[in-house]
Amino acid sequence: MAKDPGRVLIFDTTLRDGEQSPGASLNLEEKLAIAHQLARLGVDVIEAGFPYASQGDFAAVQRIAEQVGGDEGPIICGLARASTGDIKACAEAVSLAPRRRIHTFIATSDIHLEHKLKKTRKEILAIVPDMVQYARSFVEDVEFSCEDAGRSDPEFLYEVIQLAISAGAGTINIPDTVGYTTPSEFGGLIDGINKNVSNINDAVISVHGHNDLGLAVANFLEAVKHGARQLECTINGIGERAGNASLEELVMCLHVRRSYFNPYFGRESDSPTPLTAVRTEEITKASRLVSNLTGMVVQPNKAIVGANAFAHESGIHQDGVLKNRMTYEIIDARTVGLVDNKITLGKLSGRSAVRARLEELGYDLNREDLNEAFARFKDLADRKRDITDRDLEAIVSEQVQQPEARFYLKLVQVSCGSSLKPTATITLADQDGIEQTAVAVGTGPVDAVCRALDALASEPNELVEFSVKSVTEGIDAMGEVTIRLRRDGKLFSGHSADTDVVVAAAQAYVNALNRLVFAEAAKTLHPQMDVVETDSSSRL
Ligand code: KIV
Ligand code: ZN
Repeated sequence: MAKDPGRVLIFDTTLRDGEQSPGASLNLEEKLAIAHQLARLGVDVIEAGFPYASQGDFAAVQRIAEQVGGDEGPIICGLARASTGDIKACAEAVSLAPRRRIHTFIATSDIHLEHKLKKTRKEILAIVPDMVQYARSFVEDVEFSCEDAGRSDPEFLYEVIQLAISAGAGTINIPDTVGYTTPSEFGGLIDGINKNVSNINDAVISVHGHNDLGLAVANFLEAVKHGARQLECTINGIGERAGNASLEELVMCLHVRRSYFNPYFGRESDSPTPLTAVRTEEITKASRLVSNLTGMVVQPNKAIVGANAFAHESGIHQDGVLKNRMTYEIIDARTVGLVDNKITLGKLSGRSAVRARLEELGYDLNREDLNEAFARFKDLADRKRDITDRDLEAIVSEQVQQPEARFYLKLVQVSCGSSLKPTATITLADQDGIEQTAVAVGTGPVDAVCRALDALASEPNELVEFSVKSVTEGIDAMGEVTIRLRRDGKLFSGHSADTDVVVAAAQAYVNALNRLVFAEAAKTLHPQMDVVETDSSSRL
């Protein structure tokens, strides 16, 4: 049986596989904010990115390794294809973390070998030990993944895994890369690995899976029953195509159904010891942060973190719930940090009260950032009577989106109504502070704003999504706007919140435009689509 840490290790890949979601690219400050929240959440490993992809990706992994990976903190991991260039860059990027890992991978299915890598099985068997050993020359902790394991010939998979472990891989990851397997097949695959790889007891078995058929979480839970002890997942289940297995669903399944899973860990079924190290009360905050920063809106009926996930929130079955919560609720909303928000701050609250509340919420801002957050708070308090935690979260997440900007929104003014043509006047400043103003007429105020912004920015794009939702209840609530733009088949999202939804729309559009221009400037590689020359003798 594979190495058993006695519980499930949570490997979060929101910043790597999650960021591969169309339109979800994040800047360095945003990645750092998410990484800090993942550390508060208590994940065991943070896959911080793919350092070889670009200078920006390298810098983000390096900053996270330096600032988030402490002696007691999560392991900071970087992804590397099975090539010397990738592995070297990854080793350098994670080097500042006291607990660091290189995660290297190569495909093992015939379809990938023939059409993507154009390599034979024999060549793969030479590359794997060579590259794992190379990674081990930099770090103690190496994870090896067999990409598309779900569609690989199990006999070949066993051989590859055996070699990877002999070469020094301490974690073997089994990805269902295309989300093809069913739970019993995936559990059977893990069982087969446990039974047929003679040195499997020297490694932890990890699983990674995509949600193309909506089975990722179910597959993982079956894998756990057969000995998988590391789960690779993302907040809100974001990721390539239909996404990855969702962290919050996995963690809460193992929490709520602990007595069902305990025996698979050799425990009494009523053992109260948690099966993961995740602090579940941090889940809602992590979900909102990731949604705000990536622009990936969470569907209302999403398990655990959707707006309707809790009966008392959605107002259903109230009679039953009031008599006994257990009638319609299997999770107390407080367990995932969804507290009924007590009004904490208002117009008269001072800087130290705002700082204290932000600290309680987990935001440890430096002096400059705190000054800016306080200015935004004051501005909001002039327009909104009670400021809730969610408002504060919206202010801070808005702020971390700002650093990399080509365009700055200076003025938004609209006139509209039943007998007026919706007209917007917009002033944008560039990086040198030079301001330009444009006026445009549209079918509605938001359309007019977008047209004026397009005229100023001259960055052709197509608006493919525009969504508004209120941050809190009440007539003076802030409206959160998410915008997605498309150019050359690629998506770029922007997000903003304001008590005036037209202003929020303008700022969200500007945020999306800034992402578009910076992403175009920084050419990044895709770890799975861009094929590297992998040669077992290339480093000799
Ligand atoms: O889906 C996949 O196979 C991956 C690997 C790179 C682990 O993301
Ligand atoms: Zn993946």
